[in-house]
Amino acid sequence: MEKARRFADHVRHVTQIYENALETLSQEAQPMDAILIHSGTEGIYFGDDRHISFQAFGHFNHWIPVNRPDQMLLFQPGKKPTYFQVVPPDFWYDQTVVQEAWWADQYEIIRLEKPQEVMDHLPNTRRIVFLGENTKFAADMGLPAYLHNEKNLVNYLDYYRGMKTEYEVEELREANRMAVAGHKAAEQAFLNFGSERDIHLAFLNANHMLETDSPYTNIVGLDRHAAILHYQYKQRAKGDQSRVLLIDAGCVSNRYCSDITRTYMRKGGHAVFGELLKGVDVLELKLAEMVKEGMPYRQLHEAAHDGVLDLLLASEIVKGNRDELAENQRISKLFFPHGVGHLLGLQVHDVGGFFKDDHGALAPPPEEHRFLRLNREMKNGMVFTIEPGLYFIPMLLDPERESELGKSLNWSLIDALIPYGGIRIEDNIWLSENGPVNLTR
Ligand code: GLY
Ligand code: MN
Ligand code: MN
Repeated sequence: MEKARRFADHVRHVTQIYENALETLSQEAQPMDAILIHSGTEGIYFGDDRHISFQAFGHFNHWIPVNRPDQMLLFQPGKKPTYFQVVPPDFWYDQTVVQEAWWADQYEIIRLEKPQEVMDHLPNTRRIVFLGENTKFAADMGLPAYLHNEKNLVNYLDYYRGMKTEYEVEELREANRMAVAGHKAAEQAFLNFGSERDIHLAFLNANHMLETDSPYTNIVGLDRHAAILHYQYKQRAKGDQSRVLLIDAGCVSNRYCSDITRTYMRKGGHAVFGELLKGVDVLELKLAEMVKEGMPYRQLHEAAHDGVLDLLLASEIVKGNRDELAENQRISKLFFPHGVGHLLGLQVHDVGGFFKDDHGALAPPPEEHRFLRLNREMKNGMVFTIEPGLYFIPMLLDPERESELGKSLNWSLIDALIPYGGIRIEDNIWLSENGPVNLTR
């Protein structure tokens, strides 16, 4: 089976990263012999007995596609990794772990009833690193505090999560295929004058999904709501007056996420908004094609700002000298106030966006682009989003109505476009050895 072969290759690759990490860091930082990764502990709302929807720790899911609390993976160089599958006897909840041979065959599997029983199976060394949120559990087992989430190791592992294996790319492709079907259904629901809630449910229904299956809270905004970047509600009001839909929604395949945004305008809407919509789509595709190994991702972000300014000038929302207006991107930031994308993988905003190297040297975003979540040089194997936007956000625009900068803005046109909210087009891109591949289209 092709999937089993891909997964075996993936585990070989991850094993190599872990072996290299222990070897290198044991010399340079401190001796570490083994790594125990804990998937996490199920939380309960304060003062309640209701569980918070659980999401396993990404580094656990890098090995095992099981989204369950208290599962553990033990890594020791030169040994088959051990999966401690904790299945408590419980008549309140179904604790069964669905195990499939394509991934399970890669592990030594030890079934336990309680997480604490793992102590009987740990190697005979004190230098075991614990990776996971519940460091109290680690301390209770006697694992040394100085090796809880050992920083050098976490940096190293985060850095390499950025480059995906063939298995991971296929899962990301599948998460995209599912989400594209959802987006088609959502578009139809919009065209049929559905409410935000109808559109959201149409997206979920296309894949028979529950909300807890989503990689993030769907953003489903009609009209002005499209200008709220992470708009979180879903109104019940019918969309019979609606003109624009912005939907940012994704799916998950074996814990790998897609993150896709589409914007639609109904026929008969403002012609300038229609032009901008086409323009952002063309810009997104152009940016996706620019990506090359070695290119700083920040260059794409700068190019997105140039592209947004060009669209604003072409539509005469902005008037004046292009070079002056381009300075510091003050104009384009009013209409495009977020980063152009981020790494994508086991988390929607995947780890490792700010590293210069695998030793934890940081590459934080520059002050002028502090919302940029990816500031690395692009490397083959990376999967990331490209998501330029152009919005009419009153909170950002209003302070400029009387300002010097505001003199270059066409306020009557802006006022006519504010009810249309905004535009974002977001695809998921894999930088393959043969160049960028769009996993969404
Ligand atoms: N869906 C959140 C984002 O696009 O980053
Ligand atoms: Mn998104
Ligand atoms: Mn995104």
